[in-house]
Amino acid sequence: MSPKTTKIMQIANQPDDGEIDRILYTYGGDKSSLIQILLDAQSTFHWLPQNVLRRISEQLGIALSEVYRTASFYKALSLVPRGRHLIRICMGTACHVRGSPRILGKIEQFLNIRAGETTRDMRFSLERVNCLGCCALGPVIVVDGEAHGNLTPAEVEGILNRYE
Ligand code: FES
Repeated sequence: MSPKTTKIMQIANQPDDGEIDRILYTYGGDKSSLIQILLDAQSTFHWLPQNVLRRISEQLGIALSEVYRTASFYKALSLVPRGRHLIRICMGTACHVRGSPRILGKIEQFLNIRAGETTRDMRFSLERVNCLGCCALGPVIVVDGEAHGNLTPAEVEGILNRYE
């Protein structure tokens, strides 16, 4: 994806202050709720644009650098646009020997993206992980927290088509 495309997407997907304030209001401006506020914002907007982090910083009275540091630390939080659905594919040893490379190839082919990327329609993001903690189910993917195990490449399309 070109830097220009990324910039356009960032502008198009910027939430307004009212949307951010609705999340802040839930926590009553409590500074100690920063991580939970960021998680809620991530879940609502699918990523954390700069204006969201700035608004949270202003409203909570926390330095923007600290808000950024927190947002960068947690894997569940993203500073780049993510799709509405997050696919995590396990490439750990147990899944690898049971065929996860073929599953990954099928997903990449079906969505026309590589691991680490997001589809143009912002429907899916695809991430590789090293173990999802359910090795007996391998090969396994998790979509929005829902595990799909003992997968075959032929099942991939049907599963992903369930996520609009
Ligand atoms: S190696 Fe895949 S879930 Fe553990």
